[in-house]
Amino acid sequence: MNGLKLVSTGSAMPKGVVTNEDLTKIVDTSDEWITTRTGIHTRRRCGEGESHTQLCLAAARQALERAGIAPEAVGVCLIATFTGDHLNPATACILQKELGFPEDTVCFDLNAACSGFVYALHTAQCLLAAAPRKFGLVLGAEVLSRVTDYTDRSTCILFGDGAGAAVVEWGEDYPSIHAVLGCRGDADVLYTPGVNAEAPSYIHMEGQSVFRFAVETVPRCISQVLEQAGLGVEDVDRYVFHQANQRIIDLAMRKLHLPPEKCTGNIAHTGNTSAASVPLLLDELVSTGALRSGQRALCVGFGAGLTWGGALLELK
Ligand code: COA
Repeated sequence: MNGLKLVSTGSAMPKGVVTNEDLTKIVDTSDEWITTRTGIHTRRRCGEGESHTQLCLAAARQALERAGIAPEAVGVCLIATFTGDHLNPATACILQKELGFPEDTVCFDLNAACSGFVYALHTAQCLLAAAPRKFGLVLGAEVLSRVTDYTDRSTCILFGDGAGAAVVEWGEDYPSIHAVLGCRGDADVLYTPGVNAEAPSYIHMEGQSVFRFAVETVPRCISQVLEQAGLGVEDVDRYVFHQANQRIIDLAMRKLHLPPEKCTGNIAHTGNTSAASVPLLLDELVSTGALRSGQRALCVGFGAGLTWGGALLELK
């Protein structure tokens, strides 16, 4: 068996905090509605002088520093995102130069929406197996405020900005992440129009359809990862859910009888940060000692595509 271990994590958040109360001043909503329907109290928003690239650089630097590895040790740099500063070059290419990775480091951005970080972990595992250097830098980063319509109360209450990073290491005697990835092409219930769009490129969402999709897919994905790994629910120390809606997490938790203390999240102060959500939560768990060396986290994401993905990560 060969696979990945999580070596270290990092994160970066913009300074600006948007409270539910702030949103009541721009759309017809209330703190009570947002809190009970989503679990979100505050989210972050990039302001003047803050950018996607800066968030990625800060999160990446922190993760690399904590890993104690030199840039020359990095074989792969992947960023899961759909809100980079440029359509190209990929933000990962900018990191190559800024952080001093060797020129043969495989650097690219990947778009699997909110499942992106899990997709990137799987991609890193595959690429690192063939790479000359065995450390990978994997990020999830979004500036969703750029594609959020602040006149649409059904979406603008949900989304936030941020970047999370992870240094992973590939080893011949390391466990596989046992990734389960899926996609059901559906361009109608959750999408962001592209550069050819006539209207501004905002996230469009049919909330209830996405809710039903998530409640069906997430528990099944978790069960498949566990089955593939030959593990039981009790063998996982932390379930790291994509932070989209606390009610989705609660339903998945109940369906699989997961202990609530293993499923704590951070949606209350991050909102839904799409691809950044899983690595941001991982960083919080590692930084606070809630996920410790030798312990196992099961990460699960879902989102536009529609896509979903689950994977196991053991902390080195
Ligand atoms: N404040 C107050 N009322 C709001 C509101 C807001 N911010 N947003 C919507 N409403 C209203 C609706 O207009 C509707 O009013 P009506 O009954 O008069 O027509 C009512 O609240 C119920 O709307 P509905 O869409 O059924 O609410 P919901 O319980 O499904 O909650 C979401 C909406 C978006 C929170 C929920 O559907 C959701 O979280 N879906 C999943 C979204 C998700 O995870 N997306 C990201 C995937 S990565």
